[in-house]
Amino acid sequence: MNQASSANRNTEQPPTVLRVDASARYEGSVSRTLSDSLMQSLREQYGKISTLYRDLAASPPDFVDEAWVAANFTPAESRTPEHRATLAASDALVAELQAADILVMGVPLYNFAIPATLKAWVDMVARARLTFQYTDDGVEGLLKGKRAYVVFVSGGVPAGSELDFATGYIRHVLGFIGITDVTIIAADQHNSRGEEALSEAYAQITALPVRPVVDMAAASLT
Ligand SMILES: Cc1cc2nc3c(=O)[nH]c(=O)nc-3n(C[C@H](O)[C@H](O)[C@H](O)COP(=O)(O)O)c2cc1C
Repeated sequence: MNQASSANRNTEQPPTVLRVDASARYEGSVSRTLSDSLMQSLREQYGKISTLYRDLAASPPDFVDEAWVAANFTPAESRTPEHRATLAASDALVAELQAADILVMGVPLYNFAIPATLKAWVDMVARARLTFQYTDDGVEGLLKGKRAYVVFVSGGVPAGSELDFATGYIRHVLGFIGITDVTIIAADQHNSRGEEALSEAYAQITALPVRPVVDMAAASLT
């Protein structure tokens, strides 16, 4: 796994893409199929990409519990070996995000919101002093210079409607940790307009503007 910091990497290198899948299913999963296509499109854009993969259905993140909160709220320099062990899995998820230049997320709508595994992932990567910090001017996200593509799929709820509590939330929480360049690729209302929803999403993937890696590297320095 490539754990190099994206801020320090050589711009000649291919971009590192972290793919996060949240669908509980593999057979017939629309979000996984569209994310496959998006990954292929990124490979074609850049010639070569380095990939990191986090399948939340195969290995769901732990939930926040009392021991985790105590360890996380203890300043890093005062943590015991037990604290560090408690935070190890969360640290690994944060390291993947730090290493990534581009994030590809497959997000099905479950009961009007994101799947619980994805919420658990959010809880593990939203870490004060690591991915965001409090300043005199408010909260500052620390994962700057990255770009995210969110593949959103729903059965009946229109993307962006008042019953979609997923896309607005994901956009907000990514922004909170510093990832403000977020593109939503939607295959929404898949039950009633399956083919149409899919072709719109594929068209959006095909039309994604080619953006040089150097843009991201420059942004990560500001
Ligand atoms: C547990 C569960 C809950 C769902 N809840 C909703 C919902 O609230 N609204 C909706 O429009 N679709 C809902 N769906 C439909 C999924 O969003 C849709 O089937 C989507 O294609 C799932 O993603 P996938 O194909 O990648 O597995 C739900 C599906 C499942 C399995």
